[in-house]
Amino acid sequence: MKPRLLEVLETEKPILSAPMAGAVGPELVAAVCNAGGYGVVPLWEIPEEDVGAKIDELRELTDRNFAVILNMSFPYEKQLETCINKGVHGVSLFWGVEPKAIARAKAGGLVVLASVGNANEARIAADAGADVIVAQGWEAGGHVWGQVSTMALIPAVADAVDLPVVAAGGISDGRGMAAALMLGASGVWIGTRLLASPEATIHKEYRSRILQASEADTQWAHDLYDVDWPDAPHRTLINSTSRTWAEAGSPAPGERPNEKEMIGQDSAGEPVERYQSYTPQPQTVGNVEAMSLWSGQGVSLVREVMPVSDIVEEIHRDAKKCLRAGTSVL
Ligand SMILES: Cc1cc2nc3c(=O)[nH]c(=O)nc-3n(C[C@H](O)[C@H](O)[C@H](O)COP(=O)(O)O)c2cc1C
Repeated sequence: MKPRLLEVLETEKPILSAPMAGAVGPELVAAVCNAGGYGVVPLWEIPEEDVGAKIDELRELTDRNFAVILNMSFPYEKQLETCINKGVHGVSLFWGVEPKAIARAKAGGLVVLASVGNANEARIAADAGADVIVAQGWEAGGHVWGQVSTMALIPAVADAVDLPVVAAGGISDGRGMAAALMLGASGVWIGTRLLASPEATIHKEYRSRILQASEADTQWAHDLYDVDWPDAPHRTLINSTSRTWAEAGSPAPGERPNEKEMIGQDSAGEPVERYQSYTPQPQTVGNVEAMSLWSGQGVSLVREVMPVSDIVEEIHRDAKKCLRAGTSVL
């Protein structure tokens, strides 16, 4: 019998790509889908009128299922209607559980993946009709909703709901995937590891720092990179901006060193401000090192740039190996 998560997602491998805004486009998502995983495309940060075209672009690259992620702290209603009208397979809803968004997506015939940071939120999402729970641990890179580590979060969520649980945060290789499955997850959601792929649309300086960073080189902060998205905790690589801020006593927005300073330009030539929530792109110019370099603690396992299809294959194969081998320690 096919595992429930694979039945729901109608896919082969229980590996999902994290929808990393600015770093993940149609090529990366299609590569995950074509490798037998389930891709999740971030479209919440683009103008609503462009969402349909992006979905079409992705469909040119894969005929497999994928989901679109929508951000509950920004207006999402029109984007959701576009997803319904376009008949995408799934929507993934993050930054808080919104029962009415879940209900609307279900009524529109979509599979709903709901991101949570604790077991109580998972129960609320399940009661509202979600199909899959994505449990994001505190180790995760990018914006981090909860404050519970993956190790403690996954079994708590798996015990709380009778739904497939996907584990996110700190999972960068087959060992991590095997561990997540042993904790009660049915699948994994991979972010930072996929930044080290040619398909990730990030600046080479950012990728090179990811390849060199250790597990101790990231930092969680409540309001460090808050320009454009305030009050949204996040994890990034420690850099000159975060070090200067820490040396100044980690002051609140409005009192931070060098606020409003322009430190570069984005791919459209628009200025990038210090403390801006921004993912440096290949065409970004300026002081890339000082920008928000999102990363999870699992970064220490990211040492090589590999095509997305190879990463998915490797994680899947190694997780199976780990689970078959068991342990000789006990
Ligand atoms: C560069 C980057 C951008 C991210 N952007 C988003 C996003 O737009 N939406 C979202 O739900 N999560 C986002 N995240 C968080 C991921 O979905 C995921 O929870 C996290 O990457 C998992 O942890 P890991 O990085 O340790 O694998 C982002 C993460 C990174 C590293």
